[in-house]
Amino acid sequence: MAKLWGGRFDGKNEGWIDAFGASINFDQKMAQQDIFGSLAHVKMLAHTGIISQTDAEQITAGLLAVKDKLEAGQLTFTVENEDIHMNIETYLHQEIGAVAGKLHTARSRNDQVATDMHLYLKDTLHTVIDKIQTFRNVLVDKAEANVYTVMPGYTHLQHAQPISFGQHLLAYYNMLTRDQERFTESIKRTDLSPLGAAALAGTTFPIDREFSAKELGFANVYTNSLDAVSDRDFILEFLSNSAILMMHLSRFCEELILWCSHEFQFVELTDTFSTGSSIMPQKKNPDMAELIRGKTGRVYGNLFGLLTVMKGLPLAYNKDFQEDKEGMFDTAETILTSLDIMAGMIHTMTVHKEHMLESTEKDFSNATELADYLANKGIPFREAHEIVGKLVIDGIHKGRYLQDIPLEEYQAITPVIEADVYEKLDSFNAVKNRHSLGGTGFDQVKHQIQLAKEQLEQE
Ligand code: ARG
Repeated sequence: MAKLWGGRFDGKNEGWIDAFGASINFDQKMAQQDIFGSLAHVKMLAHTGIISQTDAEQITAGLLAVKDKLEAGQLTFTVENEDIHMNIETYLHQEIGAVAGKLHTARSRNDQVATDMHLYLKDTLHTVIDKIQTFRNVLVDKAEANVYTVMPGYTHLQHAQPISFGQHLLAYYNMLTRDQERFTESIKRTDLSPLGAAALAGTTFPIDREFSAKELGFANVYTNSLDAVSDRDFILEFLSNSAILMMHLSRFCEELILWCSHEFQFVELTDTFSTGSSIMPQKKNPDMAELIRGKTGRVYGNLFGLLTVMKGLPLAYNKDFQEDKEGMFDTAETILTSLDIMAGMIHTMTVHKEHMLESTEKDFSNATELADYLANKGIPFREAHEIVGKLVIDGIHKGRYLQDIPLEEYQAITPVIEADVYEKLDSFNAVKNRHSLGGTGFDQVKHQIQLAKEQLEQE
């Protein structure tokens, strides 16, 4: 069949070259958006008198018929028709004949494709935001159930100081809140209509860009037609925000994977989120967490792929832009599923509170408590640090912890140490006593939960 743009061509098409140039295999994801864009455009053409009302009615009816067939799964797309725009237009011709040719008045595929992508991403952003919010709710609930769960806090992956597991979860809540903010702020730059920029320079037809933008629910129109057809910042921003989101999820997954190990035994994921081994009957692997960690790579890749596609492109449209879609779709699918999995995994996981606590009792993570205790008794902190450091090395040699040192020994080192030292060395108390704002103290964790709940309620 002849190409919609075939007029100036004599040469024959070759299937394999058509296939290389086509985007239909992936841009058919925007079929709905493409039809919506055309419906708005044709309405504008009639509204401005560029085409007659009768023609517009026929085209609209034709587009709606194509839409019905699309929804009924009756449309098959072809590589010969290159992309979703020309596939849909070809179907429109089949529905209503020659009048279909008037649809493309004052429009180019350049503003058409940009419009489709803005519509697609705007929808996607709302879904992403909803899913992040759901996950944040799960985190707050889990944190609330674990305010008093004491676990080792780490720096350098070494036991540092005991913390509340609730606070640990809330740290992720805060990361996810920033992610949600970033996606929300990016809506402003996605909610713009490029439609009417035509190929690059606008058009001689008396179009009304604001009219079609409003029809499509866009908040604003691009002010510059060259920018409108060649801007892909809104996609880059989506990919970049997604990369940061995945980095957060991946860090969390890394911790889950560690926590599920025999060495930690801090949590257990449900069977739904785990898999077995084909050879080792005992295995229960945290595959879903590993996959989210792994898929972070492709999301970063999608960002770098598009940044690289864009970096050398002269204004305005270049076919290179066609490479912007697969990474966007893949990223959207990846982050949406990852968020669902994270929410389910955290909601259903079992927390082994006793293991977590136990792990803070067979270590020296209460060393700061002892140093603080001495400093409170007037010993300069640096000196206190030195004293405790010596006790730690002695304890390592003797195989005993700070709470196991008898009072007489403590008093021989410094008489300021009294019997009340032991309650300070208790890890539960070590957490409880950290009342500083934002700290791990139970009162502070409850305050953070309160803040999170208020925030979620206001959204
Ligand atoms: N499939 C093309 C893309 O994704 C649509 C725009 C084609 N425009 C053009 N001038 N060839 O970018």
